[in-house]
Amino acid sequence: MLKIVKDNNPTLRERCAEVPLPLSEEHQRLIDEMLDELLLSQDPEYRKKHPSVREGVGLAAPQVGHNIRMLVISYPTGDEKNPLVQHQLVNPKIVVNSVKKCYLSNGEGCLSVDQEHPGYVYRDFKIVVQAYDAKAKEKVSITARGYDAIVLQHEIDHLNGVLFYDRIDKVDPFKKIPGSVEI
Ligand code: CO
Repeated sequence: MLKIVKDNNPTLRERCAEVPLPLSEEHQRLIDEMLDELLLSQDPEYRKKHPSVREGVGLAAPQVGHNIRMLVISYPTGDEKNPLVQHQLVNPKIVVNSVKKCYLSNGEGCLSVDQEHPGYVYRDFKIVVQAYDAKAKEKVSITARGYDAIVLQHEIDHLNGVLFYDRIDKVDPFKKIPGSVEI
């Protein structure tokens, strides 16, 4: 079991280092462990046994104590043809982003953040991310919209030392941005 770094730890605020490619066995092992840990967090039985663990859909390497540019994402889509979104990304880079914004109506959460931070977190509605995919073992280009784009941006933020609540308006947390999409 990997220990989750919480947001009182200043290491979560650092910019993470690029990972050398080709991926070393050690880094492959770490990113596999990260995915295992994320999937465990989604298992109700596991959470019953480990009450400090909360359910997540993504995990970035700095959240498990490694300040390097790797992240994992996994969640069901509800779409029969494409039932699962799952990524193990190394050195992800946003290369295209939309002007149009979106936000989760219930706000965001994070495995590293125990306190509630009410408010809207505005993110780009559409992004294109380039990365090395440690699952497919090749370079990939991912086009993501809406919820998929939000999860990717949340995890990539971790690699730059940014937490979701940094993006909530301090004066008006539930401010509406005209033309933005509620999800
Ligand atoms: Co997070």
